[in-house]
Amino acid sequence: MDIKNKSLLKNLSYVDGEWINANDGSVTEILNPANSESLGSVPNCGSSETVAAIEAATKAQTKWSKADVKERALVLRNLHRLMLENQDDLAKIITFEGGKPISESVGEIAYAASFFEWFSEEAKRVYGDVIPGHQYDRRTLVIKQPIGVVGCITPWNFPSAMLARKIAPAIAVGCSIVSKPAPETPFSALAMAYLSELAGLPKGVLNIVTGDAEQIGAALTGHKDIRKITFTGSTSVGKLLLKQSAESVKKVSLELGGHAPFIIFDDADLDAAVDGALIAKYRNSGQTCVCANRIYVQSSIYDDFCERFTQKTSGLLVGNGLEEKTQQGPLISNNAMKKVSLHIKDAKDKGAKIATGGNPHALGGLFFEPTVLTGVTDDMLIAKEETFGPVAPIFSFESEQEVIRRANDTSYGLAAYFYTSDLGKSWRVSEQLEFGMVGLNTGIISTEMAPFGGIKESGLGREGSKYGVDDYLEMKYISLAGIEE
Ligand code: SIN
Repeated sequence: MDIKNKSLLKNLSYVDGEWINANDGSVTEILNPANSESLGSVPNCGSSETVAAIEAATKAQTKWSKADVKERALVLRNLHRLMLENQDDLAKIITFEGGKPISESVGEIAYAASFFEWFSEEAKRVYGDVIPGHQYDRRTLVIKQPIGVVGCITPWNFPSAMLARKIAPAIAVGCSIVSKPAPETPFSALAMAYLSELAGLPKGVLNIVTGDAEQIGAALTGHKDIRKITFTGSTSVGKLLLKQSAESVKKVSLELGGHAPFIIFDDADLDAAVDGALIAKYRNSGQTCVCANRIYVQSSIYDDFCERFTQKTSGLLVGNGLEEKTQQGPLISNNAMKKVSLHIKDAKDKGAKIATGGNPHALGGLFFEPTVLTGVTDDMLIAKEETFGPVAPIFSFESEQEVIRRANDTSYGLAAYFYTSDLGKSWRVSEQLEFGMVGLNTGIISTEMAPFGGIKESGLGREGSKYGVDDYLEMKYISLAGIEE
């Protein structure tokens, strides 16, 4: 990988402040999805290396939880600064391993760094409570304490931001972490571990174990010293981790799949809605869990919207993410290509029209044409499943109640979007959409300052914002008696 600061390129796991190989010396090769070239390899660790990391984290946690809060805040501020000082190189690493267009990768590093800044501030605001005693000589105190060692599993689509969103609150409140990056994108996580060392994080507080997903996941969920699991990824893996964690009753946060409706009412600003839908659909080539997956347009403006949206979609530049002008990079894998093709074929077979795209891109490999489908109906696969690719299915609707019912008709509940200029409708629809996050007249909802997370089968818990520390804390009530002389 051609970057300026070569020290960021680590190809070993990071345990107890040491860079380690797998015990059996085995490695996994990492490929650039844009051209299938090898980017190097990382250790193929399993249970035993994970258990060693948990032991190191357990030892480190006792000390870290007693560090002055200002020391923890300073480490996080340092990490924020170091991430931004290395922004271009870290962005290139994301693009090399995940294929993301470089402008989006630069944005992801700023997003990741923002969590370190935010939680450096929140570290000082872990407030408790004093409650009137239920008897005259009693007082009731509530304190919040770090939950302990956190097992963390992160996805390939935001390899830097999702790790930062999980480890920043953990570090802030005095937890230690054992983290497994996605097999496709380990280098961003390893670079962050290297920077955490420079930022002054004591050894053992952050451990990164690369390798076998099943073995590492089972070791994390099965170990008694892991008190919390935090995971971003598919709903099916999230359910498995939840089941595995039940045995020792761990606290679990899950940020899982989504199937976001994007609704455009006929009183909306249509230009703004087209631009909002474009970013909500094609950010990271449609590979985000908050992507617009079902675009509902009121019938009186359907043709107009489809025409404008299709025109902009067909102008999106597909290419290697390292080229500055690229707006759509490759997909992550052959399975992703297959799912996209399947959704398009199914929709076509059931009567949808392809307004643009519809095929693998002429560049070959993992590139797919940004695609718009019109005349999409609720019986099609794409109406029911998350696509995770650059396909925009456009449905037509007549009334407010009808579209709310159809939007909510899913087991997912992560993000929803709608455009309207009617104030009453803004409230009514926001309140009735069964999703954890609603974008009203915007296609971008991600920020470190708001609580990110879903309901129903899209997850448990919230990340970012003032609520983001709660998942890393335990509440303790102290009943103080014997006050009277
Ligand atoms: C995700 O797709 O998992 C997260 C996207 C975001 O934070 O914007």
